[in-house]
Amino acid sequence: MEIRSRLTWGALLAGVAIAGGACSKDGATGPQGSQGATGAMGAPGAMGAKGDKGDMGQMGLPGTNGTDGTTGPMGERGPSGPAIVISDLAQYGLELSAAAGAPVNTSSLTQAQLEQVGRGAYLTNAIGGCNDCHQAFGPAGPEFLAGGTPFPVPGPGNQLVYARNLTPDMATGLRLTEQEFIDSLRTGIDHKVMGTTLQVMPWPVYRWMSTADLKAIYAYLLVIPAVANDAMAMPDVKNQSMPLPFTGVYDTGDSPPTPLPPEDAPDPDYVLRGLAIQPLAPPSGFDTWATDQQALFGRGSYLVNAVAGCNDCHTNPPYNFASSTPFRINTDVYLTGGTVFRVPPPLQPRLHQKRTMSENLIGQNHGFNVSFPVFLATLTQGVHADDPDPTPLGWPMPWMSFRHMTRQDIEAVYTYVRNLTRATGSRDKITAELARACAMTMECGTGERCQQGECLKDTCLSAADCSVCQTCGTSTVTMSQSCNPPASDSPCLTNGI
Ligand code: HEC
Ligand code: HEC
Repeated sequence: MEIRSRLTWGALLAGVAIAGGACSKDGATGPQGSQGATGAMGAPGAMGAKGDKGDMGQMGLPGTNGTDGTTGPMGERGPSGPAIVISDLAQYGLELSAAAGAPVNTSSLTQAQLEQVGRGAYLTNAIGGCNDCHQAFGPAGPEFLAGGTPFPVPGPGNQLVYARNLTPDMATGLRLTEQEFIDSLRTGIDHKVMGTTLQVMPWPVYRWMSTADLKAIYAYLLVIPAVANDAMAMPDVKNQSMPLPFTGVYDTGDSPPTPLPPEDAPDPDYVLRGLAIQPLAPPSGFDTWATDQQALFGRGSYLVNAVAGCNDCHTNPPYNFASSTPFRINTDVYLTGGTVFRVPPPLQPRLHQKRTMSENLIGQNHGFNVSFPVFLATLTQGVHADDPDPTPLGWPMPWMSFRHMTRQDIEAVYTYVRNLTRATGSRDKITAELARACAMTMECGTGERCQQGECLKDTCLSAADCSVCQTCGTSTVTMSQSCNPPASDSPCLTNGI
């Protein structure tokens, strides 16, 4: 069997529409163009377990190398012949999976199944970032979605849970039925540890995905390479908790409870669903926008709020547990950044990063108010593309997944984030630059020194001159103060701003 698609990744990224792009003409394709340049270094591994105190986290695992670059343009079309034809997006998803080291076994799949699996592969590898947490680190290297990485459960109690093995291994892999899988992503119910819910797994985001997209991810997980890895060998330690019933009504944002659009009516790219799960009031004048802009905004909201989970890192804190409805988004500070992340110690020397802070994406003056090309470069190259001399983005921004989004999806995310009502006043947060890790002063910039493993500026005027969780001395003399590292119990380390 042969799978064909007219387009390669390159063409997709160059802005080909993702919807309805099914390739309808038969015909063998000509030789493929030459291989693209090798991809950038892989993203760092998932966060390790938290240590007992201070900055001494226990372990963090190294990342994998980047996938290869995109393939070159396809050659001329050859004479026609029979072929299974799937959409460009599905074909692209299958290519992404193979590039991630998980070639899909397509041998017994029908055209409809291939289409579904390919879409699931795209969601999993380009947006959901499932492998960022579920990757295993076996003796022979990284293993796709095979689980095992420990995560500290947020909140009190030093609880620890382990990412599960999501591969179809008979003994240790994903053993949930399709319905159980959907239930766990929609209600948080943990089918493996009865009487509890999933604690770290971002189901409060994924629950808003369409049933078809959840099924597509499930179908994909059934055909990736099986890896035997007993991620449950170390039992999750967690308190009893109740699953959150899924009622099909969006009640997590500012607007009154909104029923999700019916799933049996057409909703291409889940634009309507995205509009229904938009936590803030619509931008002013939204009704007068051109239809294609409204569609991009809706698609962007779907990707941001149901799949990518930008809120989980770029809103501090992301949820308001005090409200009567569980998991209401903290809409007051939605996407205004300020969450502090401690880079796991083993990753610090490799990334030259010690602490990072998520950016304010929607501040009036201090948000990431850039043009689309700059936004695109930031997400696809993983650098602060708005700086004159772009430096790498801080951990754990999942740009290694996001860079695989189609150009149209990145544009949708941009259209959404860029057009949300700007945050003003105290919500227009000035976020701090990441604190760089160092072993000696030579590794720091001019006018900086290496102290206690991080680069500190020799002089500062105010905290704005300091990196994340460093403080400017309190003496009234300006230009002669130091940015001091905070005490290990600094509230900044856990709370951010
Ligand atoms: C932030 C890290 C993180 C991300 C991202 C993540 N997961 Fe998880 N997931 C976990 C952890 C940890 C667990 C285990 C227990 C818990 O959270 O309490 C888990 C559990 C699960 C389970 C339950 C498995 C079982 O056997 O019962 C499923 C299914 C699952 N994840 C699927 C996914 C899919 C699909 C994605 C991407 C769309 C994803 N996860 C993304 C961390 C993550
Ligand atoms: C797992 C946490 C996490 C998630 C999820 C996440 N981000 Fe980030 N993001 C960060 C962190 C941390 C930084 C700051 C990095 C730094 O200082 O270099 C960042 C930086 C950025 C930047 C760079 C801003 C600049 O000034 O250069 C952009 C743009 C961005 N994120 C957009 C997004 C969008 C859009 C999403 C969802 C599609 C998203 N992020 C999801 C953690 C995250």
